[in-house]
Parts: sequence; structure tokens; C-alpha cells
Amino acid sequence: MSGKNQSIISEFLLLGLPIQPEHHNLFYVLFLTMYLTTVIGNFLIIILIRLDSHLHTPMYSFLSNLSFSDLCFSSVTMPKLLQNMQSQVPAIPYAGCLTQMYFFLFFADLESFLLVAMAYDRYVAICFPLHYTSIMSPKLCGGLVALSWVLTTFHAMLHTLLMARLSFCEDNVIPHFFCDMAALLKLSCSDTHVNELVIFVMGGIILVIPFVLITVSYARIVSSILKVPSARGIRKAFSTCGSHLLVVSLFYGTVIGLYLCPSGDNSIVKETVMAMMYTVVTPMLNPFIYSLRNRDMKGALGRVFCKKRVSFFI
Ligand SMILES: *[C@@H]1O[C@H](CO)[C@@H](O)[C@H](O)[C@H]1NC(C)=O
Repeated sequence: MSGKNQSIISEFLLLGLPIQPEHHNLFYVLFLTMYLTTVIGNFLIIILIRLDSHLHTPMYSFLSNLSFSDLCFSSVTMPKLLQNMQSQVPAIPYAGCLTQMYFFLFFADLESFLLVAMAYDRYVAICFPLHYTSIMSPKLCGGLVALSWVLTTFHAMLHTLLMARLSFCEDNVIPHFFCDMAALLKLSCSDTHVNELVIFVMGGIILVIPFVLITVSYARIVSSILKVPSARGIRKAFSTCGSHLLVVSLFYGTVIGLYLCPSGDNSIVKETVMAMMYTVVTPMLNPFIYSLRNRDMKGALGRVFCKKRVSFFI
């Protein structure tokens, strides 16, 4: 495998997180706890929405999809990070690296598209409450989810195929805890202009269009509330849109913080912390944002578990 400058890299080394050795175990426990919380929290949401018939509405069907996407998104990076923290040689095979990159992009995009579908759902619920059930039909919901899957498959596949064209020579150390597309591009010894152009154009489309659509939905929601301002209307809007708005801000806040703020000397530390934010913290918080602030979810939790207990005693 070691020719002169045509050597083919069969695996990459993931440097992981810039953590001092004495804090290693502390962070290991922290990440393991966060990952388990993410898995259990999101799984519980999916189960609750499935089991409780009060939650069989478009909004909760999207939320269940979002939880599924969160669960998968953090499973793309976290198990490998935890495994690497315990191993002497934190290696990942070439194919594994591209696979991780594919699924990372896939679930990140899916999350962004689902947030748009949820914003549209809230817009219809508040601006056309009487036509809500006829507009948000199961057919439209299924269509929106299917469209998200198709677009995200196309986008992730495009980047992965473009990455697979590149060759990698000597350097195989990725200064990150997962196979990040930008870090891989820096390692490549081929011409990466096409890749960079596609990232720039598609990244703009994939981030900006959802952001604009969500903003338009909320602008309409706000203007429809302001037309007939009433304490009750405002409270209703807040209780149904608050959670979604919080999740959207968390998602776009980190993405915008990462790409728009100038990075100084400690750019690797900053990038890693930001990546930690959106791969671990956001997927972990989403279920809590939705369930703790939400009376329907709490009610469902009570109903599902009490029913279980009753049937257990009978
Ligand atoms: C996602 O949404 C679709 C359409 O509303 C629904 O049929 C499906 O069950 C949802 N998937 C999950 C995992 O909740």
C-alpha cells in the first residue's frame, strides 16, 4: 500500500477532541450520558406518539420524524467517538469514513427539511384553523416527508460521490471527531475546486431556502396574530409555536455561528465545540423542549404509563 506519492490511504485517523488526558474519563462519561439521554429521550417520544391516539396529528407525526432523525443523527458520530476514546489507534476505514459522511449529511439535511414542514404546519394551524385538517391531510404530510427524504438522499449522495473521486496521499489524520467533509477536503491531494463550488452552492440552497421558508411562515403567523391582537390568541400561538421556534433557533443558531463568525487562532477548538453542539446537544435537547413545555405530551406520558399499570394489575 505504500508507493511513492501514489500511496492509497485505506484508513483515516480521527484525532478526536482536544481534551487533556486527565479529563479524558470525565468527558467519556459525559458524552456517554448525553448519548444515552438522546437515544432514550427520542425513542420515548416516538413510542408515545405511536401509542397515544391523541397525538395522531400532523404536528406530532412530524415531531416523531424529527425525533427519529435526531436519534440517527447522533448515532452517526457518537458511538464511533466513544469507541475511539477507548482505543489506542482511533482509526476509521476509508469506506467507513465516506459512509459516516453520507449519513451525517443525510440526517442533518433531513432535520432541516422537517423543520420547514413543521413551520408550514404551524402556519396553517394558526392562519387557517378551520381548514387545518383538510389542508394538512395525511397525503400532504406523507408527501412532505417523502420529499424531504428524496432531496436529502440526492444532496448527501452528490457530496459523497464527489468526495469518492478524490485521492488521498500521505496525510490521513483528521483533526476532528468524525469524518467531516471540510476536514477531508483539506487532506486530499487532488484538485478540490469542484467540491468546494458544489458545497458553496448546495450549502447555500440547503440552508438558505429552509431558513427563508421558516421565516416567511413565522412572519405570516405574527402578522395574523397582530391583526386581531388578543391575549388568548397570543398565548395559543406561543404554546403551539414556542417549542418549534426554540428548536429552529438552536439549529440555525449553531449553524450560523459556525459559518458566519470569523474563526481566530483556536479555530479547531471552536469548530469542535460547535460540532459538538449540533451533533450532540441539539438532538439531546429537542425531546425535552417538546415534552417539558407541552401539556399534550405530558398527558400522553401519563395515559400511556397509567394504562400500562392498570392492565398490568388486571
Ligand atoms: C413520519 O411522517 C409520516 C407522514 O406523516 C408518517 O406516516 C410516519 O409514520 C412518520 N415516521 C415516524 C418514524 O414517525
